[in-house]
Amino acid sequence: MNALVSAHSGLRYIVLLLLVVAIVNALLNLKSGKYEKKDKMINLFTMIFLHIQLLIGLVLYFTSDKVQFVSGLMADKSLRFFDVEHPVLMILAIILVTLGRKKAELREVPDVKHKLILRYYLLGLVLIFISIPWPFTHPHLGAGWF
Ligand code: HEM
Repeated sequence: MNALVSAHSGLRYIVLLLLVVAIVNALLNLKSGKYEKKDKMINLFTMIFLHIQLLIGLVLYFTSDKVQFVSGLMADKSLRFFDVEHPVLMILAIILVTLGRKKAELREVPDVKHKLILRYYLLGLVLIFISIPWPFTHPHLGAGWF
């Protein structure tokens, strides 16, 4: 399971980078009047990588020692984080990104598509960023940079 934790840990940088690229791309093309294949691909790839991260996260959820269902788990900061906070907020963020992309794909007007991507992906990025066990935000959890 060590390899999976490493993959899950390293993939954080790829999903964060893809989200930033998709958001900047939506911002730059907000008034362009065009929604091209490259826009579609950037938004799709971002969502696919998030879904890969979700799948790895789900496997870890059922195998990791850091997830344990014992009484009083909410009083233990580490158990509360990995049992509840991290998965719930990450799943919420991934639902938002998936929903935002679906809504954008269904709309006809290019500027509206970019606006939807901008809103939903930005909200997803914020949620994901604050739910990562960074050494500087959650030092007590002991997770590293990679
Ligand atoms: C974009 C989504 C996600 C990101 C960026 C992310 C990121 C991370 C990071 C950076 C760690 C620390 C790894 C380390 O110790 O080096 C971690 C751990 C963990 N994540 Fe996620 N995660 C995401 C989604 C999820 C989801 C959806 C679940 C569960 C359904 C999940 C379950 C876990 C578990 C159980 C651990 C602890 C693994 C262990 O150290 O044994 N993650 N995650």
